[in-house]
Amino acid sequence: KETVVSGIRPTGKLHLGNYFGAVANFIKMQHEYNCYFFIADLHSLTTHPTPGDLHGYVRNVLVEYLACGIDPETATIYIQSDVPEVTELYLYLNMNAYMGELERSTSFKDKVRSQPDNVNAGLLTYPALMAADILIHKGVKVPVGKDQEQHLEMTRTFGNRFNRLYNSDYFPEAFAFNYSANLVKVPGLDGKGKMGKSEGDANCIYLADSPEIIRKKVLKAVSDGGPTEENQPKPEAIQNLFDLMKIVSTPDTIAHFGELYNKCQIRYGDFKKQLAEDMIVFNSPIRERIEEISKDSDYLRKIANLGAEKARESARKTIKEVRELIGFKPF
Ligand code: TYM
Repeated sequence: KETVVSGIRPTGKLHLGNYFGAVANFIKMQHEYNCYFFIADLHSLTTHPTPGDLHGYVRNVLVEYLACGIDPETATIYIQSDVPEVTELYLYLNMNAYMGELERSTSFKDKVRSQPDNVNAGLLTYPALMAADILIHKGVKVPVGKDQEQHLEMTRTFGNRFNRLYNSDYFPEAFAFNYSANLVKVPGLDGKGKMGKSEGDANCIYLADSPEIIRKKVLKAVSDGGPTEENQPKPEAIQNLFDLMKIVSTPDTIAHFGELYNKCQIRYGDFKKQLAEDMIVFNSPIRERIEEISKDSDYLRKIANLGAEKARESARKTIKEVRELIGFKPF
């Protein structure tokens, strides 16, 4: 079986972007591949969470992974900081990661813009840590959203350089993966970019959002005055709402509103109401499981320990072989 690795940073609650970009694939892939799904708590340190917040956020992703249907018996679910071998490999990979290429990474440039007072070295070397996450298990398929594509390219670059340096073909090449052929970018509700926490809470529909909150957020979503001519191309904000409808609604519903739009008969109030109701239907079973699982600390502890053990077994093997390739020898 091929090895699959992916992770999510614990920075709060999971939203529909995380779900359709990543988690929906995790759930399917676990039955076909050797899967490692982790909580990227080391990565989240770049933004300096308080110790109190950090633990809650990690717990939250663990709960939501389980609530979405990742089976801890089938896939390995673990917390990144429980596997110190990852940080060791990160150090080795940093020796093959060059300043110029790290500075050119889009996500680094975005962070320089969004957190100019905290441009730390961890942000710069973020892609090397991500490569370590994947290569520690020799992963080849990485289910992620479109925004991670460049990081995967860098993972291949660092792995290949390591191979060349040590004259080996030790690390395989890893590729971003989505079942739907194209990588996904789920839009937010602000009419502009992707759904994401840094774009603000009002822009995101969280898996844990209650029906009332979903209705409120969707009704406030950015739209416009409506089409003025038949068959007019859709402006970005409207296209985004249709794209969101595509992930939660039936083909009939989408076709219905598409037709109304083309005939200039669409009423955005009704359109949004339908979108909100379909999101509620999608979210509700997950939300209920989140509430259930989050009460069971014993179960969560058991899952985290089991995952750490399985992940470390795989990671120890890689580190042992990597040390030999590098030339560390016991005296
Ligand atoms: P993160 O925590 O920002 O996001 C987690 C996953 O959700 C996807 N995603 C989206 N997909 C589609 N549309 C959206 N609007 C959207 N928003 C988020 C992301 O693409 C990602 O798959 N660097 C990673 C975490 C990471 C990782 C790894 C991933 C660390 N090491 C190793 C894979 C393999 C990140 O910050 O994702």
